Amino acid sequence: PKVKLVANALGTPPADVIDRIHDSGRLMAALCGATKHALAQKKAGVDVLIAQGHEGGGHCGEIGSVVLWPEVIDAVAPLPVLAAGGIGTGRQIAAALAMGAQGVWTGSIWLTVQEADTTPVQRDSYFRATSADTVRSRSFTGKPARMLRNDWTQAWESPEAPKPLPMPMQYMVAAPAAARARRYGEKGNALGFNPVGQIVGRMNEMRSVKEVVYQLVEEYLAAVERLEKLTSAHTA
Ligand SMILES: Cc1cc2nc3c(=O)[nH]c(=O)nc-3n(C[C@H](O)[C@H](O)[C@H](O)COP(=O)(O)O)c2cc1C
Repeated sequence: PKVKLVANALGTPPADVIDRIHDSGRLMAALCGATKHALAQKKAGVDVLIAQGHEGGGHCGEIGSVVLWPEVIDAVAPLPVLAAGGIGTGRQIAAALAMGAQGVWTGSIWLTVQEADTTPVQRDSYFRATSADTVRSRSFTGKPARMLRNDWTQAWESPEAPKPLPMPMQYMVAAPAAARARRYGEKGNALGFNPVGQIVGRMNEMRSVKEVVYQLVEEYLAAVERLEKLTSAHTA
């Protein structure tokens, strides 16, 4: 009952779902990876857009955040837009707000906090990974999603491999295999499903949610101060 906003991904939410959410006094949000999706969602009656760039974890589109965010913000104005995809520092929050976003939406950075339910093996693989170690692959869910590159994703990319099945069938193939792989710890993780965005390159140590939030705020304030100094130096 305390839920104030319901967010939908992978398409425009159906009219009856939007009506039910509005009738219950809640706001409807929707994720998008391209401006044409954002426009369709606005037309359908969505209240808040979440623009997620190519570098984000999980399902994502082909347009990078720095291009996508202002494009969606301008296209759906005056609807509020939250910026997503690649946010892991307060500097990136400052950039998103500078572009006109009303706020930000994060995913990956919560995978390695103390409170997360990721396994120790998964967490270590995120700590080790650089920003170059993810791939956008259909091999787990059937739709392009960003995850750590491993033997499983590479095998599905080989020329002899069959094409992944459409959603939701591919996950029926992949999920039992990934669950079995998990039983083999470190060794099995080469075949495991580790969804995460490119910001994984900066996820290098375990912190608490509280520490992450404080650091985001401090970095955001430092970024804004730096800009203020720059501006005043040039206008003085
Ligand atoms: C492990 C994982 C699972 C996700 N699952 C969903 C989901 O079920 N529904 C959804 O709308 N977005 C999902 N996302 C996307 C996030 O909502 C968010 O848009 C994305 O993580 C933002 O990019 P970032 O990972 O660079 O922060 C998921 C992301 C990750 C990393």
